[in-house]
Amino acid sequence: MARINDHFLKLKAGYLFPEIGRRVSAYTEANSEKAAKLIRCGIGDVTEPLPQAVRDAMKAAVDAQGHRETFKGYGPEQGYAFLRETVAKEAYADLGITADEIFISDGSKCDTGNMLDIFGPGNKIAITDPVYPVYVDTNVMIGNTGEADENGAYEGLVYLPCNKENQFVPAIPEEKVDLIYLCYPNNPTGASATRAQLEAWVAYARKNKAIILYDAAYEAFVQDPEVPRSIFEIEGAHDCAVEFRSFSKNGGFTGIRCGYVVIPKGLVGYDAQGGEVSIHSLWSRRTSTKFNGASYPVQKGAEAIFSPEGKAQVAALIEHYMGNAKLLRQACKDLGLAVFGGVNAPYVWVECPEGIDSWGMFDKMLEEAQVVITPGSGFGAAGEGYFRISAFNSRENVEEVCRRLKALL
Ligand code: MLT
Repeated sequence: MARINDHFLKLKAGYLFPEIGRRVSAYTEANSEKAAKLIRCGIGDVTEPLPQAVRDAMKAAVDAQGHRETFKGYGPEQGYAFLRETVAKEAYADLGITADEIFISDGSKCDTGNMLDIFGPGNKIAITDPVYPVYVDTNVMIGNTGEADENGAYEGLVYLPCNKENQFVPAIPEEKVDLIYLCYPNNPTGASATRAQLEAWVAYARKNKAIILYDAAYEAFVQDPEVPRSIFEIEGAHDCAVEFRSFSKNGGFTGIRCGYVVIPKGLVGYDAQGGEVSIHSLWSRRTSTKFNGASYPVQKGAEAIFSPEGKAQVAALIEHYMGNAKLLRQACKDLGLAVFGGVNAPYVWVECPEGIDSWGMFDKMLEEAQVVITPGSGFGAAGEGYFRISAFNSRENVEEVCRRLKALL
């Protein structure tokens, strides 16, 4: 008898985005004419083509695979030195991070989930609410939670409410926790955290020997020079934080797949006897065992993001998406809706019109405006009453979404 992992049975029916996909497909099947007008602002998937510098580098890398002299088989599991060194120099200059503290991967979704492999049972885990659902579901899968209640909140997790009162940055908990997921600029609320707020989190983590799992997948969208882009800008973070970054949203790699994890060598966790164990060594061991590295052409493409041409092309992409965010923010504001985010992040977080809940707004936008958004409640109970509009789209589509919003509300 093949026993399954019973923890999977605690998961709510569908992961949010496949569930949205299912509802959109059902609508499309039943309304083929209207569905032809559908504009997708749900999942934060990029729409603009890969930067030229990336494509050129990837093509050259593929060609190199066609010659015995330059052909490459298995690469280093932790990533090629050329990319690790480039990331250290370009993304972490002056932040005290070395190339061997950077682990190249196939993306942050996998990394944030896989990270749980190296942490044992019994950790108290804090997550923000609303939150990127992957953090919650991967903790459920591994057995770090009990069952979900009627609001979808899992027993055993410490939820940190994020709301307009705290500008979607959670207060430091009264209780002691061991692992803390923070994501800034934030998905889904589009909020950013100030230096002082991150300093408070780092101080808390150090005091409690906790580790902050800091998801910085959206750092490239920060416009305000005062807003930290990395947790390692905060003094003391090297002793208490892991950072996740991705090429998905800046370089348009959602389909290409490449990201990285930064783990300072001095970061420690504790074994059953309370002895210190290097997190870097455990992650390195895990990576060698379960991963064979991101592909060579993909890593070459990622390296090109940091070339002068690549930087200019990425800057243009960011400007494009942030221009979209500005238009979406303004359109919602003009309708008298309370609007958050969209200033240092590509997500606009909007309070639903009175009397409509998150899924109600999702249905209304789908059925009456043929626009796909993401219901705030899909990110957690505290997201109820909000919806998220992704700014990842063409300008033409965003302008049309703004027109349809105005006609709808
Ligand atoms: C989102 O829409 O929240 C993101 O695209 C999901 C992801 O990056 O996996």
